[in-house]
Amino acid sequence: MGSNGTNADRVAIVGALRTPFLKAGTGFKDMTTVELSTAVVSELVQRMGVDPKLFTLCVFGQVMPSLDYINLAREIVLRTTLDRSIEAYSVSRACATSMQALTNAIESIERGDHDAALTGGADSMDDLPIGVSRNLARGLMAFQKAKTGMDRLKILSKLSPKDLVPPVPGYSVEPTTGLSMGQSAEKMVKENAISRQQQDEIAWRSHDRASKAWDDGFYDDLVMPVVAPPFKEGVRQDNIFRKGSKLEEYAELRPVYDRAHGTITAGNASPLTDGAAAVAVMRESRAKALGLTPLGYVRSYAYTAVDPDWQLLMAPVFAVPKALARAGLSMKDISLVEMHEAFAAQVASNLQALASRRFCEEKLGLSEAIGEIDPAILNVNGGSIALGHPFGATGARIVAQGLKELRRRNKQFGLMTICTGGAMGVAAVLEVAS
Ligand SMILES: CC(C)(COP(=O)(O)OP(=O)(O)OC[C@H]1O[C@@H](n2cnc3c(N)ncnc32)[C@H](O)[C@@H]1OP(=O)(O)O)[C@@H](O)C(=O)NCCC(=O)NCCS
Repeated sequence: MGSNGTNADRVAIVGALRTPFLKAGTGFKDMTTVELSTAVVSELVQRMGVDPKLFTLCVFGQVMPSLDYINLAREIVLRTTLDRSIEAYSVSRACATSMQALTNAIESIERGDHDAALTGGADSMDDLPIGVSRNLARGLMAFQKAKTGMDRLKILSKLSPKDLVPPVPGYSVEPTTGLSMGQSAEKMVKENAISRQQQDEIAWRSHDRASKAWDDGFYDDLVMPVVAPPFKEGVRQDNIFRKGSKLEEYAELRPVYDRAHGTITAGNASPLTDGAAAVAVMRESRAKALGLTPLGYVRSYAYTAVDPDWQLLMAPVFAVPKALARAGLSMKDISLVEMHEAFAAQVASNLQALASRRFCEEKLGLSEAIGEIDPAILNVNGGSIALGHPFGATGARIVAQGLKELRRRNKQFGLMTICTGGAMGVAAVLEVAS
């Protein structure tokens, strides 16, 4: 069975790689999103040792758009060894962007349009498009068209200092609610009665597991070294996880979004991050003919959305039963869960809802709870809080490490979820050959 049960010749994931994920403003501060993307795609194709001409489709995405080009995927094709005549388009689904890129490519292969595709996503918080206020934009346009010096002076005289303040970038405030992600997560804390202690434990565990996984070499073949400007030495590791961090340290951090009564801190939120990740997919028969060993499969997936005025980061809970049903599975068949950690508060809220019979009956129309998730199978190698979260790259990171961990545990099925801005969510069932 293929993804969502549609096709006999399955689509296999045959390669996956990411750059280190670095805290914004650090080692990748002089690299752009397209440079990070190009680095990871070039390296992945080279490591796979296949003819780049095999790939006839490139689907990539970034959440924060660039003013320098309009189609990241096409730029990647033009800057790597990929064939310049292939199809390339970019997608955007907030933090599920590289998941969207992957499932689009899977669908194209299942439909028979392509045999092999490169997918992924990237973001750099050091390569943000800095906007200008509407007044300044209007003024600049008029200035360009003005014929005389007097006309230009008139235009400038209409501008005030506040017109020079750039508007806040779209990732930080939800346009329809006017709340930042963090403020929306604080709202979920109150509505779901999530404690600070619960959040700090989730965050501490993320750091503890990420640092142990790095120590154990788990990430060695999932993460490539990148030589970034000033080109002195390669960056080999993520730089956000804290080795040996103590739970007590989290309790000392001050709330960020609601200084007086809040619970969300720099410690229990995902940090602003730079990085890129890529996943190669191929028709399984083609992969086998080439001697490639499938890393695994996306057995099923579902995208959902809820009203942002309700609980911004709750949509994955609605996606889970759909993805499980499409896979013909239930929660008891799942041996591993990779849940994107936007905020520990969202993880706690999502887990609580999945385990709540009342929530599942009232909100999802189910007759029982979807199921409790044992912390022993959740984000076992750390999550976005400790590893970082370059928005566009997170889906590809999760798929790669989820499949690797399933293979390591010799288990067949894993579940992955991502919540996103705009109150959307994705859940997917990952599978490795049993
Ligand atoms: C939460 C946020 C505002 C914090 O930003 P910041 O203040 O720049 O964070 P910093 O990393 O500088 O950390 C602040 C302090 O907490 C400390 N700290 C952070 N994590 C810590 C941890 N795990 N343990 C102990 N201390 C920690 C830092 O050392 C720093 O201390 P200092 O002030 O003494 O140097 C920022 O990470 C953010 O915007 N995150 C959310 C992004 C978002 O909305 N994403 C969309 C969700 S998908």
